[in-house]
Amino acid sequence: MADLLKLGVLISGNGSNLQSIIDHIEKGSLKAIINIVISNNTDAYGITRAKKHKIPVVILKNGDLKNKEDFDSELVKTLKDNGIELVILAGFMRILTPVFLKAFPHKIMNIHPALLPSFPGIHGQKQALEYGVKISGCTVHFVDEGVDTGPIIIQSAVQVFDDDTEETLAARILKEEHRIYPQAIQLFAEGKIEIKGRKVLIKNVRSNCHR
Ligand code: GRF
Repeated sequence: MADLLKLGVLISGNGSNLQSIIDHIEKGSLKAIINIVISNNTDAYGITRAKKHKIPVVILKNGDLKNKEDFDSELVKTLKDNGIELVILAGFMRILTPVFLKAFPHKIMNIHPALLPSFPGIHGQKQALEYGVKISGCTVHFVDEGVDTGPIIIQSAVQVFDDDTEETLAARILKEEHRIYPQAIQLFAEGKIEIKGRKVLIKNVRSNCHR
């Protein structure tokens, strides 16, 4: 359908964020369509989730191409062939090269399980626990050449409790991820996102910190 934003979702694992995007699309709160899911892991449960909803899946394993740039060129080709307008990283465990970034300028979103710029990289929840913060959360941001450094679109905060484990904190954060990622995509679909340098301005919204 012409008015639906065409998404390509990249996964490596469980795919619960993918599921939440699918659910929001199916209940009509996200005006988008997932044209393709790409996984770099043959065992990713997200593949099963996509197939259940009849979404085409492409598997491109890390070792399939000889270097990172070739891998990213193949990703770009697959996404372009499928008419993708916005790329969604949903637990995709790879750093993208400039080949990819240049092909989709300001059109790649990621979700990170911490309040950036705190605790970038892997194990954001563990880093937060070990540091002893009282509040953590999640961040949807555009992807740039750094690791979790791109302009921030939406953040949501959760409390950290004294008896939290990495698992209990991750579960509390994940619940918020599932809420704000579809919301950020919908804002993009509605053309409400404006990027000014490091800042993302959302039209008609004064604050986009969701607690
Ligand atoms: C999430 O915690 C996300 O923030 C991080 O990777 C995890 C992916 O989870 N980037 P899932 O595969 O969507 O369940």
